[in-house]
Amino acid sequence: MLHLASETDPGWADYALAHLDEILVDHAHCEKKAASTALNLMFRYPDRSELLVPLSELAREELEHFEQALERLRERGVTFYRMTPSDYAGDLYRAIRKEEPLRLLDTLLVCSLIEARSCERMKLLSQALPEGVLKDWYVGLLASEARHHVGYVTLAEHYFPREQVKARLVELSEVEASVLTSGAAPRMHA
Ligand SMILES: [Fe+2]
Ligand SMILES: [Fe+2]
Repeated sequence: MLHLASETDPGWADYALAHLDEILVDHAHCEKKAASTALNLMFRYPDRSELLVPLSELAREELEHFEQALERLRERGVTFYRMTPSDYAGDLYRAIRKEEPLRLLDTLLVCSLIEARSCERMKLLSQALPEGVLKDWYVGLLASEARHHVGYVTLAEHYFPREQVKARLVELSEVEASVLTSGAAPRMHA
């Protein structure tokens, strides 16, 4: 159960396959960003002890995914390069409330929604790809991202009442669906 308020148009996978190298570079950046976000949370909330080990494990796993993405690029003869991200994450982060502890709640739930959308997109890619290393890799990854989605929600439920988490997740999932605009550039979250 991914708690997403909208479904990606299945046509996105065809578009992504037609721009696969660019999608893979963006994907590698997303994995790096996911690791960085988890680390940042560890620095921002050192006194929230329940967060530390799960976030540390998550950061390591995302860095492994980053390394795997670089390997997939190498196999295709593509060099990793700097890329302008889509507006998606920035637009979504703007919905995070400034005051604590609501900032913590919102940040964990925004992270959970980004993981959910990644999982949904990876599933579409895995279904569209021909048999091979890349398809197998995406099948493996989407299970991890589904687990990360649930993991962030579980962390939120540790510090906030379940009903509050549920209600805010619904609100933020609407925001997430609204910022997922179809940009011109092929991206994991565009
Ligand atoms: Fe990942
Ligand atoms: Fe993830």
